[in-house]
Amino acid sequence: MENETGYAATTEESILPLTDGTPAAVEEVKVPKLTSSEFGEYNRLAEYMDSFHNHFRVRWNELYATASGKGSKDSNPAKLSPSRFLKAASQFLDTLTMHHNIEETYVFPHLSTRMPAFQKNLVLINQHKQIHAGMEKLGLYLAECREGVRDLRMEEVQELMDSWKDVLWSHLDREVEELGAEKMRQYWSIEEMKSFRF
Ligand SMILES: [Fe+2]
Ligand SMILES: [Fe+2]
Repeated sequence: MENETGYAATTEESILPLTDGTPAAVEEVKVPKLTSSEFGEYNRLAEYMDSFHNHFRVRWNELYATASGKGSKDSNPAKLSPSRFLKAASQFLDTLTMHHNIEETYVFPHLSTRMPAFQKNLVLINQHKQIHAGMEKLGLYLAECREGVRDLRMEEVQELMDSWKDVLWSHLDREVEELGAEKMRQYWSIEEMKSFRF
């Protein structure tokens, strides 16, 4: 259902324990609708994060199209030359590493004081670890290609990318979801949202 601002009306479910020990009852508790400007403020970080993630999605698709041999000038990104691929793939790994370092140094520690999803050993940081395990293997492979230790073989690169493809794409969506207005409003006031330095 949509409210007058065009955004979905929000409800939360609360579990009510029963005295006789039978399964808990569920009661729907209405939370106030956000105005358009409140939604904008609460959703600011999600939108900001998504803009970075869109960059990663585009770059990944470009690399993957080349690695899988599916690049074309039509519906898929154009294939990159081997030297351009090596450079673009290395830049992708460096930029993603920097992005995760910034998140884990400046953003997650603050959010995790109230939001479990951003705590250590939970979903988002665990996804970072899985992503980095895959990135490390790809990074070593690319370095050996650059140094002439091995030849660049796209089928091998595709295999190396496939090993962390699902977790990367799932992470790019999940993180934005966790920063969305309906999640943020549960933990922060509008004033606190405005005071965030990221
Ligand atoms: Fe991110
Ligand atoms: Fe992340």
